[in-house]
Amino acid sequence: MNVLLLGSGGREHALAWKLSQSKLLEKLYIAPGNAGTEEVGENIDLSPNDFESIGKFCVEKNVSMLVVGPEEPLVKGIHNHFAENPELSDISVIGPRKEGAMLEGSKNFANRFMERHGIPTAGSFAVTRENMSEGIEFIRSQSPPYVLKADGLAAGKGVLILEDAGTAEKELQSMLEGKFGKAGETVVIEEFLKGVELSVFVLTDGESYLLLPEAKDYKRIGEGDTGLNTGGMGSVSPVPFADKPFMEKVEKQIIYPTIKGLFEEGVPYSGFIFFGLMNVAGNPYVVEYNVRMGDPEAEAVIPRIKTDLMELFVAAGTSNLKKRSISIDERALASVMLVSEGYPGKYRKGLPVSGLENGGESIIFHAGTKYDNGKIVTNGGRVMAVSSFGNNLKEALDKCYKTAGKIDFEGKYFRRDIGRDLLD
Ligand code: AMP
Ligand code: GLY
Repeated sequence: MNVLLLGSGGREHALAWKLSQSKLLEKLYIAPGNAGTEEVGENIDLSPNDFESIGKFCVEKNVSMLVVGPEEPLVKGIHNHFAENPELSDISVIGPRKEGAMLEGSKNFANRFMERHGIPTAGSFAVTRENMSEGIEFIRSQSPPYVLKADGLAAGKGVLILEDAGTAEKELQSMLEGKFGKAGETVVIEEFLKGVELSVFVLTDGESYLLLPEAKDYKRIGEGDTGLNTGGMGSVSPVPFADKPFMEKVEKQIIYPTIKGLFEEGVPYSGFIFFGLMNVAGNPYVVEYNVRMGDPEAEAVIPRIKTDLMELFVAAGTSNLKKRSISIDERALASVMLVSEGYPGKYRKGLPVSGLENGGESIIFHAGTKYDNGKIVTNGGRVMAVSSFGNNLKEALDKCYKTAGKIDFEGKYFRRDIGRDLLD
């Protein structure tokens, strides 16, 4: 079958790499893709948010499955666009309709959903311009640090964690006045959860689900988790503290009630759910839901899936997931992101990348790259993820760092402490 995958990051290269190994695949298109996805499929110059053109392309090329990598087209309703258009309604879409995508598209919606279904998360209070004074009272009733979140999608930048109540009150006001645009018209004030984060993923058809390997993401630019937040500087899977008793709690208290809650509320769902969790003294709490795979988590999770992913997608799209099982590679996988100098602030693009032939035992997933006159050049802040298997985490990390040293572009930077906190 022919598949169109939307997106252009490391997550999409990892998905494309895996789908390209499927015996069910005839032709894989990626829109818009990057230099890495071009190696495993055909890149198409279309924006994931241009639903009309994507629909036309699918009809023209006889595409029977659309896999949506990033959240934005899902929140904007690409699945609904396909489901409601007679020419497109037979195409299976991996990724929820906008009703399900609200779990990521509105933090307030997600919090109210969790409240309805008794799913552990931080206590919260939603504020708009109309009830700003109540918001200020709520801040004053809490102890620091204060967590303020723009309700809508803000490309990972809409969360502020502040130590001082006065600053929190000022920030609340500036968010409501448009600091994050429309996304901040509602602001969610949350209780601060103290613990260690991890990312848990399922693939679901809206009734049953398959648990994928969990991962830990390293978000800060600097070693020792310092400096600005980024899209993610590396990830590892498995996560040692996500042992059997902990994961049983995650399934029982969080995953199962989420799937059941969606089903009971009549929200159809086919695709990934990404549970951003906090381990608070051995108990899991939801920090956020995402309605897609994580990036860079996908680069550490997808290669550990031994099962044909497209077979699972077909099952997810036809409500047949309960008949399927998933087989996971027991080995550890680490992924280290190579980024452009200056990221997550200003950085240059178009710099030639060399040494890609030195991948050795690593798998290189491109993120911000493109072809320029037949040569691979940088085209983003996060340039590529170096992923490696090992019999243990240390071995996987050693391989990543060996490869990371051999790939080069001007201003290359990477964190040398990915996974270090998890080593014995
Ligand atoms: P989010 O976009 O909701 O994932 O938030 C971004 C980051 O802020 C998370 O990955 C956490 O590190 C942190 N964060 C968000 N909400 C909370 C919370 N209630 N308590 C503690 N940390 C939080
Ligand atoms: N790595 C976090 C995310 O994909 O949102």
